[in-house]
Amino acid sequence: MADDAADVAGPLAPFFPVDYAATYLEARSCNQSVDHDLIGVRILASPMAYPAYVSRRVPFPVGSVVVKEEFDDWDLTTRRCEKIKRWTAAIKGPPGTDPALGDWIFQVVSPERVVTAQGQDAKARSCRDCHAICGTAVTPRAVSPGQKPHPSPNDGYDHMCAD
Ligand code: HEC
Repeated sequence: MADDAADVAGPLAPFFPVDYAATYLEARSCNQSVDHDLIGVRILASPMAYPAYVSRRVPFPVGSVVVKEEFDDWDLTTRRCEKIKRWTAAIKGPPGTDPALGDWIFQVVSPERVVTAQGQDAKARSCRDCHAICGTAVTPRAVSPGQKPHPSPNDGYDHMCAD
């Protein structure tokens, strides 16, 4: 099949609304991505996702959405991120959606809000390489007595990769 959006089954909609910036909360400010091609990025979490994303101590409710804005124009000295190049997003599905990926569905969205890759389709396969392992450290870190083991920030949290 041609390398275009046609291999995405059915008409797909972005997981986040047009005006997401009005309600979503900034979880990571404008910064350079380590793994997403060294571009300027910013991460926002839906109101439902935010507590889990920042605390890393409570589960993400089904329907949580995390959006990464990727930019064409950025300057890290002034922390300026402008001109959306594309979005990557993830939504938490019900148990059984995709157990190897924590039941998250990943998505890539163009500046025109066209979904160009999603979930199990070929163009979203690379997303799994990293996100399947983020925050899934099987060996808990040494913790003080009485403290619950939880992934260190560097490990990410529940398949979310940001440190
Ligand atoms: C090479 C490893 C790698 C690949 C491949 C990758 N990511 Fe990521 N992703 C990361 C890292 C690391 C972060 C943390 C922020 C950063 O550095 O960009 C991240 C952050 C994200 C976030 C913000 C939430 C979070 O903390 O994880 C989303 C959403 C996301 N990626 C979606 C995707 C999608 C969709 C794809 C496939 C098109 C993808 N990623 C492919 C490593 C990767």
